[in-house]
This record gives sequence, C-alpha cells and structure tokens, in this order.
Amino acid sequence: MKRSTIVLIKVIVWAACLGPLAWLVAHAVSNTLGPDPTETITFTTGLVTLRLLTISLAISPLRRLFPKLAWLIRFRRLLGLFAFFYATLHLATWIALYAGFDLHAMEADVVKRRYITVGMLAWLLLLPLAATSTNWAIRKLGGARWNRLHKLVYVAAVCGVIHYWWQVKPGVLTPMTITMILGGLLLARPVLALAQRRKPTPAAKAARV
Ligand code: HEM
Repeated sequence: MKRSTIVLIKVIVWAACLGPLAWLVAHAVSNTLGPDPTETITFTTGLVTLRLLTISLAISPLRRLFPKLAWLIRFRRLLGLFAFFYATLHLATWIALYAGFDLHAMEADVVKRRYITVGMLAWLLLLPLAATSTNWAIRKLGGARWNRLHKLVYVAAVCGVIHYWWQVKPGVLTPMTITMILGGLLLARPVLALAQRRKPTPAAKAARV
C-alpha cells in the first residue's frame, strides 16, 4: 500500500478516535449533555472503550482471513491506546463525579459493587498493555513475551462486557450485540489457528501432484 494512503487512513483513524471526545467537549461547553451529564459522559466513554477494544481485537482474524488487509496491523496499537485513553477518562469520571475524590467511597464501591470491581479489573489489565506499547518496551520484552502479555486484552474485553451486563436493568439487552461480536472474535482465534494447522504445506501439496 502507498505511503500516502497509509497517512490518509491514519488521519481518518485519529479523527474517528478523537470524535467522541470532541463530541463530549462540544456538548459540555454548550451545556447540552442531557438531563444527567455524568451519565452521558460515563456511558459514552465506556461504550467507546468497549468498541475500540473490539475493533482492535478484530484486526488479527481479519488479517488471517483476508491477507490483503495485512496493513490493518499498523493501526492495532493505536486503537488499543485509544481504548485505554477512553477507559481512563471513564475511570476519571467515576473518581471525580461519582466518588467526589473520596478514597473511602471509592474503596467501598470497589468492594461492594461487583460491576465496579470487574470494571476496575478491566482497567488494571489494560494498564500494563498501554505501558508496554512503545517500540522500546517491545524490544526489551522480546516479541514472544510481548505477545503473550498482550493476550490480556482478551481478558480485559471480557471483563468490560461483564461490567456492562452487571449494571444494566434486568431484561435490557443493549450489551447483546457487542457480546456476540466479542464472543465471535474469541472463537475465531482457535478456529483460525486450527484451520491454519490443517492447511497443507507447499511441500505436502507438491508431493500430492
Ligand atoms: C475497560 C474498562 C471498562 C469498560 C469497557 C467499561 C464500559 C462501560 C459501559 C459500556 C458503560 C455504560 C453502561 C450503561 O450506562 O448502559 C459503563 C458504565 C459505568 N462504568 Fe464502566 N467500563 C470500564 C471500566 C470502569 C471502571 C474502571 C469504573 C470505575 C471504577 C467504571 C465505572 C462505571 C460506572 C460508574 C458506570 C455507570 C453506571 C450507571 O450508569 O449507573 N467502569 N462502563
């Protein structure tokens, strides 16, 4: 792919990732975040985190299925970092607007509310991934160890979905779509790995002729 095309896609990805933040800032400034601004901020940042995590997880299976999409890998780290950025904004909203910076209230919330516990776990799992996303960290850890560590993103995404389900009202099925997509992506890994293993090697193909 041409360098100029990659640059153009990069600009689009940055704009798309910053879009929700710009939307929140614009509505906060014009005081149009709705009747419950805290809820709007929490909902938007939480949902964007989950969507970005899911998109970043979709990149590997897409590359395997469609080798022409190999260039997508260049954007996985960026999407993952934006997911962490929104997760941190989401956490900051909780610290500032729900808990009012009260450490005891935060501690009680983490212990008493299971959806907060699992949400916190999701954020804590993303933290080492964001911290090791530099080229220096990849070199220092080595490719194999870095890859193993970054598998944690699957656990973080699952915790994020559980966190979502544990707070919606009974009977509400809003998290269903993202749960099904994430379930499909989790299944895709072993299925594609198995299919790849069964694929005849060029040597085996030649022997058959
Ligand atoms: C990867 C991490 C996380 C993801 C993907 C995530 C995702 C979400 C989503 C999608 C919602 C919207 C649910 C709705 O309003 O229908 C939400 C709400 C919420 N999350 Fe998270 N979250 C994460 C981490 C956290 C953390 C670390 C905390 C705080 C410790 C937290 C606290 C909350 C709170 C207080 C709400 C609002 C609940 C309400 O409306 O009463 N989340 N989260």
